[in-house]
Amino acid sequence: MAHQSALIARDIEAYLEQHQHKSLLRFITCGSVDDGKSTLIGRLLYESKMIFDDQLAALEADSRRVGTRGAELDFALLVDGLAAEREQGITIDVAYRFFSTEKRKFIVADTPGHEQYTRNMVTGASTADLAVILIDARKGVLTQTRRHSFLVSLLGIRRIVLAVNKMDLVGYSQEVFETILQEYHDFAGQIGLTDITAIPLSAVYGDNILEAGSNMPWYHGPTLMGHLETVEVGEALPTRPFRLPVQWVNRPDHTFRGFAGLIASGSVHPGDRIRVLPSGRESQVARIVTADGDLEVAVAGQSVTLTLTSEIDVSRGDVLAAGEAPPEVADQFEATVIWMHDEPLLQGRSYLMKIGTRTVSATIAPLKYKINVNTLEHTAAERLELNDIGVCEVTLDRAVPFEPYAEDPTLGGFILIDRFTNNTLGAGLLHFALRRSQNVHWQALDVNQQVRAQLKGQKACVLWLTGLSGAGKSTIANRVEKRLLSLGRHTYLLDGDNVRHGLNKDLGFTAQDRVENIRRVAEVAKLMVDAGLIVLVSFISPYRAERRMARELFAAGEFLEVYVDTPLAEAERRDVKGLYQKARRGELKNFTGIDAPYETPEHPEIHLHTQQASADESAERIVAYLSAAGMLSKL
Ligand code: ADX
Repeated sequence: MAHQSALIARDIEAYLEQHQHKSLLRFITCGSVDDGKSTLIGRLLYESKMIFDDQLAALEADSRRVGTRGAELDFALLVDGLAAEREQGITIDVAYRFFSTEKRKFIVADTPGHEQYTRNMVTGASTADLAVILIDARKGVLTQTRRHSFLVSLLGIRRIVLAVNKMDLVGYSQEVFETILQEYHDFAGQIGLTDITAIPLSAVYGDNILEAGSNMPWYHGPTLMGHLETVEVGEALPTRPFRLPVQWVNRPDHTFRGFAGLIASGSVHPGDRIRVLPSGRESQVARIVTADGDLEVAVAGQSVTLTLTSEIDVSRGDVLAAGEAPPEVADQFEATVIWMHDEPLLQGRSYLMKIGTRTVSATIAPLKYKINVNTLEHTAAERLELNDIGVCEVTLDRAVPFEPYAEDPTLGGFILIDRFTNNTLGAGLLHFALRRSQNVHWQALDVNQQVRAQLKGQKACVLWLTGLSGAGKSTIANRVEKRLLSLGRHTYLLDGDNVRHGLNKDLGFTAQDRVENIRRVAEVAKLMVDAGLIVLVSFISPYRAERRMARELFAAGEFLEVYVDTPLAEAERRDVKGLYQKARRGELKNFTGIDAPYETPEHPEIHLHTQQASADESAERIVAYLSAAGMLSKL
């Protein structure tokens, strides 16, 4: 290294010892591409002398080659590690960087936007002690500054450093600094941020980074590094009851069964009474096993494996909790959602939700309001777009143990994931459980689906016909129904056009309405399958997500997806209802295949090519499939 502590060379053991006992400050930097964030972090790394000799040599060479600062060192290049982004001049890498000074160790989350850190912080993977909010002195407080501050406050970070950068470009003006500070204070106060340290600086020239320099004699506060090194952090967390979300069940052989995970809060000892959530079963801790031997006590932040004194069912995603203070279990909540994807959040669509170590299905509806980060106003919203923050109700497919986020980010923070791409779409914070679901119980009925279907001599199922408008779904469904009727089977046909005249007459053709259209018809189909019927559903159902949602309502083998595959050109040529012509003329908006998407099925149980088979042949194929699958035989 180019320097650090002479101690390294003299006495490495002593250096490591000293290093180990330094306090740690975790912080995040929020700012946009050109507020100078990379330069600032690069400068901190450089000043803390955490740069290796070879990195320094590379930096000098790079600064001359692609740097934006002439012959001087371009610190942003240190941070913007990826060749591609250097060439484009923007930060695209996401990284946690570690550096240290004589006084303290630091971990800084450096990110392009807010996505990565929001996601990590919301799920409790990292908890920042402090946020550095970067402002370009020339631009002042922007919408983005407000959004970042709002998120930071939502996430429970209380300490803010307002780093007013690029002071060199405003002539080191005290007035500019004061004006920005005033504006920021006015906003921050409204969202509960009061611990604000504002520092005027120039990341490029180093003013107020490590040394004050002589350009801003009017400023008497700390330098950035000085503040980061001395700001108080890590005050003892209030003692919270023991919680361990189970990451995996360790079962090397039949003699050992341990439950491994990271302790989210509290402490645990052998002999402690614990409760397993959501099942509610109780047991006692037998051992706390780690790679370095058994422990007498383990605390929040440690990864351990617990064994219990009794054989009880525990699986991945369960939470082991203090027996006397277990978390609540619920399946409906009010929550704040921060949307991070270009595709909007649609009410009623089912997403995967990761909460703690558990992944469940979640539906957002209704969306109560979204928050204007500039004015903090609440406005009614149909959907959440990229960067929107909203408050909504969330319904899960099963009950999970949770805590309000404000009390415990690990069991109160979640992320929403796309079912198909596995991309993170948003992050959220649980507020509280809604009680109403707890007062509506499933009625155990003596007459069930099997009995009802048996009486009809069939197995109940749903044939889900999907395809473009005019593909031939209704025609084929109609013939299948007639064939089944002639075989003495009990059926019902749910047809898009018909259902839209009654149950769904309030719905149009926006993405949002189609999601709701399919949700309702899927629920109706489920009731009818429960009634023992063979149900035919004939809806365009253009989205994979909703077809998957429908499928998941049914038992294995009960949901048969039938892709009525008619190419757009052919459907348009037939144009039975004249709707394609209207759509082409622009008289009909959001028409599937024209200006609204149709996502083709990937693995339909039955794939019908209507150009190669007549409607009767297609219908016959479906009946043959049912018969081969034993759906038509007497039970
Ligand atoms: S879905 O997309 O929500 O599943 P659904 O099957 O209920 O659609 O209704 C489709 C029928 O509505 C079409 O067959 C057509 O007759 C009619 N329709 C009217 N407007 C549209 C539109 N914009 N897009 C598709 N179909 C439309």
